[in-house]
Amino acid sequence: MLSLPVILVNFKSYPEASGRRALELAKVAEEVSEENGVTIAVAPQMVDLSLVAREVKIPVFSQHIDTVMTGSLTGSTTLTAVKDSGAVGSLLNHAEKRMIASQIEEIVEEMNRNQLISVVCTNNFRVSKALSLIEPTFIAIEPPELIGGDISVTSAKPEVITRVVKAVDKLAPDVGILAGAGVKNGKDVKRALELGCDGVLLASGVVKSDDPRRTLEDLVSGVI
Ligand code: G3P
Repeated sequence: MLSLPVILVNFKSYPEASGRRALELAKVAEEVSEENGVTIAVAPQMVDLSLVAREVKIPVFSQHIDTVMTGSLTGSTTLTAVKDSGAVGSLLNHAEKRMIASQIEEIVEEMNRNQLISVVCTNNFRVSKALSLIEPTFIAIEPPELIGGDISVTSAKPEVITRVVKAVDKLAPDVGILAGAGVKNGKDVKRALELGCDGVLLASGVVKSDDPRRTLEDLVSGVI
C-alpha cells in the first residue's frame, strides 16, 4: 500500500505551505523522494488537497476526516471527498483536531473498506494501545508537549515508543507505528527506525525550514 519506511510531512495550517506554496513544497518532496528512493508523503490543507494530489506522484494525505456520511453537511470533510480528491489516506485524531473514539472507529472501518490509509495520532501509551485495537494502518505517537518543539520524541521519550511498539506488536501486529513531534533531522529518523517504528510524522522541521529541500535530504539520510 505504501513502501516503508515513510516520512510523512503534515503541512498543518502553516502559511509557508498553503496554496501555491503547498504545491511547491510537495514538488520538492517528490524530487527528494525520487532522487533517494525513500517514501516521502505530504498532508496539505484540505483546500489544497485535490490540487496537490493531482500534481505529484508521491502519496498525499488529508489532515482530517469528519464523517463517513455525505449530503447535507455544509463545511464537512467527508471520506468520499477525500477519496475523490486523489488522496491515499488521512490523518485522524491529530492533537490539534481531536476526535472521539467511536468516530475514529467508524471512519477507520470505512477507510479500510475503501483501501485508504489511516494514520491515527495518539498522545500517550494508553491511548496508542487502545486505538491500535481499531486496526488503523498506522498509529502515530505524538506527545503533545513535544509538538512544534526542538526535542524529538525519539530522544525525549524513547521508552514510550518502545512500549507502544511492543504492545501493538502483540495486540495488533498489522498496525504500523510512526513517531512524531519534534522530529527534525536524519538522526531522529534513524533513531525512530531503530526503536521499531515504520517511519516518522513531522511538520515544522520541514515546513518552517529555511531550506526545506536540504532538510528533506537530511531526513532521508536517516533511512539510506
Ligand atoms: O503532525 C505532525 C506533528 O504534530 C508534529 O509536529 O512540528 O513537532 O514536527 P512537529
